[in-house]
Amino acid sequence: MLTKIEELLQEVDQLTAQNAEELEALRIKYLSKKGIINALMADFRNVPAEQKKQVGMKLNELKTRTQERIAALKETFENQDADMSGIDLTRTAYPIGLGTRHPLNIVRNQIIDIFSRLGFTIADGPEVEDDLHVFTKMNFAPDHPARDMQDTFFVETNPDDVTKNIILRTHTSSVQARTMEVTQPPIRVICPGRVYRNEAISYRAHCFFHQVEGLYVDKNVSFTDLKQVLLQFAQEMFGPETKIRLRPSYFPFTEPSAEMDISCHICGGEGCPFCKYTGWVEILGCGMVDPAVLDACGIDSKVYSGYAFGMGVERIANLKYKVKDLRMFSENDTRFLEEFEAAN
Ligand code: DAH
Repeated sequence: MLTKIEELLQEVDQLTAQNAEELEALRIKYLSKKGIINALMADFRNVPAEQKKQVGMKLNELKTRTQERIAALKETFENQDADMSGIDLTRTAYPIGLGTRHPLNIVRNQIIDIFSRLGFTIADGPEVEDDLHVFTKMNFAPDHPARDMQDTFFVETNPDDVTKNIILRTHTSSVQARTMEVTQPPIRVICPGRVYRNEAISYRAHCFFHQVEGLYVDKNVSFTDLKQVLLQFAQEMFGPETKIRLRPSYFPFTEPSAEMDISCHICGGEGCPFCKYTGWVEILGCGMVDPAVLDACGIDSKVYSGYAFGMGVERIANLKYKVKDLRMFSENDTRFLEEFEAAN
């Protein structure tokens, strides 16, 4: 019996199983009621008394070793589940809902695209700006109402020197100032970006919105150049039938200044509720860069002239997509955003 147990001890140490069924078969073979070990236990009473102690110990050893071996094999199966080797990490876990481009980004990209083809490059600047670039270099008088608390978000005020006030930019014209500071003409840039104004939030105003401004400075730049570029833009954006109209206006940084209207693309200029029966809708502000702005930014206004324009991306998006409530652009409601899937 001892030799039999010794043989079994060796056998048990070599046990292997490929899967749970094989393991179960081993358990039945060795450890079940009718298994090998139980049979040996039953034989134990035939062992001569003087050998009982030794055989008993060996038999117990066999039983625990078998239990341990089977438990160890079982553990390897369980660990196999957590083993990453069988997992295909490239497989889609579950259908991933693809997002859609935000309508404001769609429109901004269209604007950028049109002006890129006209030779404009993109300029960028900080949203947290100083007064110097937002207002002072843009020729705003020290007491201009735009500097008031109602319009501008102040981050840090400097009682000794307003030009050092730190504010959230109220327009992207600050990027024009920054570009001119470091570049000599010819300059032909567009500045897309987010701007902030301290406004009560309603369906038609928010405390932040997006602009794209343009700046062209070179020798002999004229108002005709401005008008032609804006006509080209309007027709590419709203269709080849689109007409434009410039109305005199005022901005501190341009002289002369104008507001541009496009013929109403809903009624084609006939007059409808959308254009309030005028046949025209306003889309941007523009003008010839005031010589004072050029000089303040280190460009010789006696040698160079330039034009600038600025438009609200939300406004253009509203015209294209007729979004009635401006707040929807920043609510992140996927039901709204998914409506622009086709426009991607
Ligand atoms: N900065 C103006 C605004 O925020 C828009 C604007 C008008 C920009 C005329 C320009 C411009 O560059 O020439 O309302």
